[in-house]
Amino acid sequence: MKNRLLKSAMVTGASSGIGEAYTRLLASLGYDLIIVARRKDRLVSIAREMQDKYGVSVTVLQGNLCSEKDVSTIEEIVLDTADLSVLINNAGFGTLGPFVDVDISKSLNMIALHVTAPTRLVKAALPGMLARREGIIVNVASVAPFLPVSGNVIYNGTKSYLIAFSECLQLEVESAGIRVQALCPGFTRTGFHSVDEYKSVDFSTIPTFMWMPAEKVVEQSWQALRRKKVVFIPGFINRMTCTIFSGLFKYLARKRSATKDQP
Ligand SMILES: NC(=O)c1ccc[n+]([C@@H]2O[C@H](COP(=O)([O-])OP(=O)(O)OC[C@H]3O[C@@H](n4cnc5c(N)ncnc54)[C@H](OP(=O)(O)O)[C@@H]3O)[C@@H](O)[C@H]2O)c1
Repeated sequence: MKNRLLKSAMVTGASSGIGEAYTRLLASLGYDLIIVARRKDRLVSIAREMQDKYGVSVTVLQGNLCSEKDVSTIEEIVLDTADLSVLINNAGFGTLGPFVDVDISKSLNMIALHVTAPTRLVKAALPGMLARREGIIVNVASVAPFLPVSGNVIYNGTKSYLIAFSECLQLEVESAGIRVQALCPGFTRTGFHSVDEYKSVDFSTIPTFMWMPAEKVVEQSWQALRRKKVVFIPGFINRMTCTIFSGLFKYLARKRSATKDQP
């Protein structure tokens, strides 16, 4: 059992995947935790395991971060947590198909989850972090904004927001010793692709070398914070893909729309 740090961390979307991996890492480092998601049974079982293994305290918050009421409650808890040193804004989901065909309620929920909730939780966490002159904020974005494709409009848009938000926020809080990271994973083995939304998609066609385990993504994200990487793409293959293809994807997207504009 490790010594407790007497510092707290909040992880959203802690019930699986990258959020669960971040929860496990932070517990192993001695942080007391506040973990948020909708599936309470999974949160409770992770909390029990972390308490037993690392002797940290884990508060389970069952909440839907698309709900204004639930976000307000969680925001209050952030404001009341005087020693909140780490905030991992991770909860997220994907949709399938062109923007015009996606149910508008799904698009609005995605904006609430990927944009509104992280913005509000950061705003609530910052006064304490600024006063203590320390803090870590990780906003889980994606490589998607580097590789614009059709069928990913709101996901791309909301994850682009998280990248731009993190970059500008870092400029404002750097002198106070606060580190901000937009974590931009590529294909990661989590629950993300096993939902009903994607049941018609065969992800086994994605080559094995393109996938990373969530634990590796999180380990690299944490190390990158020490190197003060603000926009961080985990994995050599993902970094290479973005470097080589980002310009090409953006060029093709613009060229295609310019061609369509011609009379
Ligand atoms: N996996 C990838 O290939 C990949 C690639 C790039 C970026 N990402 C990003 O990584 C982040 C984590 O996803 P993941 O890959 O770890 O997938 P995951 O295993 O499906 O985890 C998503 C987490 O978000 C939570 N969540 C979803 N909707 C929520 C809501 N309305 N309120 C509260 N919590 C909610 C889920 O918990 P509950 O269902 O219990 O609420 C779950 O804990 C997401 O932001 C995703 O966009 C993933």
